[in-house]
Amino acid sequence: MKIAIPKERQSGETRVAASPEVVGKLIALGFQVTVEKSAGADASFSDDAYKDAGAKIAKDAATALKDADMVLKVGCPITSGEKSEIKLMKKGAILIAGLSALSNKKDMEAIAKAGITAFAMELMPRITRAQSMDILSSQSNLAGYKSVLDAAAVYGRAFPMMMTAAGTIAPAKVFIMGVGVAGLQAIATAKRLGAIVTATDVRPATAEQVESLGGKFLSVDSEMEKDAQTEGGYAKEMPPEYFEKQKKVVAEHITKQDIVITTALIPGRAAPVLVTEDMVASMKPGSVIIDLAVEAGGNCPLSELGKVVEVGGVKIVGHENVPGRLAEDASKLFAKNLLNFITPHVDKETKTLSFDWEDETVSGTLICRDGKIVHPRLGATPPQPKPEEPEPAKEGE
Ligand code: NAI
Repeated sequence: MKIAIPKERQSGETRVAASPEVVGKLIALGFQVTVEKSAGADASFSDDAYKDAGAKIAKDAATALKDADMVLKVGCPITSGEKSEIKLMKKGAILIAGLSALSNKKDMEAIAKAGITAFAMELMPRITRAQSMDILSSQSNLAGYKSVLDAAAVYGRAFPMMMTAAGTIAPAKVFIMGVGVAGLQAIATAKRLGAIVTATDVRPATAEQVESLGGKFLSVDSEMEKDAQTEGGYAKEMPPEYFEKQKKVVAEHITKQDIVITTALIPGRAAPVLVTEDMVASMKPGSVIIDLAVEAGGNCPLSELGKVVEVGGVKIVGHENVPGRLAEDASKLFAKNLLNFITPHVDKETKTLSFDWEDETVSGTLICRDGKIVHPRLGATPPQPKPEEPEPAKEGE
């Protein structure tokens, strides 16, 4: 079975879906792997490193994709126009990638129409067994780390307290809004740099996690937060009364902060507004806001995608594709996530791939198959359980 690793074509994407190490592992599982020329260049993986791992190098995307049975990608392939990648793929090919499927229905329909079987890795169910396949986790963790370094880079002061002969420098006050995977790593990183860290989240379970990392938790309304988490571990959209209370609590706190890092997301919806224009106006000049939710609309209405803007002396950073700013590590972890997803479905003896369609990690991520969208969150009807057959009557009954 042939796997292709094309170079990512979406603008600003620096990552690649397979590292040389993972290519070696796929080959050991029995696959043949073709990597498009320079596919790993932005992530510091040379064509020679892929060759040494056993891959073939294809001169362009068309050559890499034309006879591939499976295509691994970081982002959604281009589905229309001259640059269309799906028109280069064969019917029946399997696509495994981060597809942003819920906000990208048109592309999903085009992929289904092309007869491609596609898995959206961002929809991986949050079960213990799937942690090693979770691209949102692996990438958010790096984004959380990088957000603090990005803040430090534009902040005109130091993070740790320094007692010097020339005077004492006060430690930076860092406030993290949203304590999921990115937020937790941001807390840990800011603490390591010597900042005083506070954090808030709607999910009450996060209070203990914040404190275990040496931060202080800022609670908005513990009663309303009791019901703030879905069964899948994500935040629910909160009622307007909660946002009113949150505004008051945060407005008071934020004026004393030097750095605010926002990471709050609600899957499939626009990010909630947590830092209003008034709050920005109340912050000290020289303060920094890093909006990690900028790609989902932003937690601050003043942040702009791909830009650093300054409002009243406050720098608001809206970098695009933050994990891609650590392209090598992000690609290595992403590639491992895909490998961990594929491996359980490979027969070690015959070295063939056959998906267990009943497996939660497969059914939870499968977007389209046999020309049709099959994911219930994209409007497909979930498969109905077969009606139970009546038990055959026993003799003498
Ligand atoms: P996320 O990226 O969807 O959201 C980030 C954070 O924003 C979340 O903690 C959320 O509660 C918070 N948030 C949303 N709306 C908010 C608001 N209005 N105000 C303040 N905070 C708000 O979440 P992420 O990081 O993907 O993970 C959420 C949780 O899922 C993790 O903490 C973890 O417990 C769980 N998880 C489980 C995995 C597994 O078991 N396989 C893998 C990864 C995460």
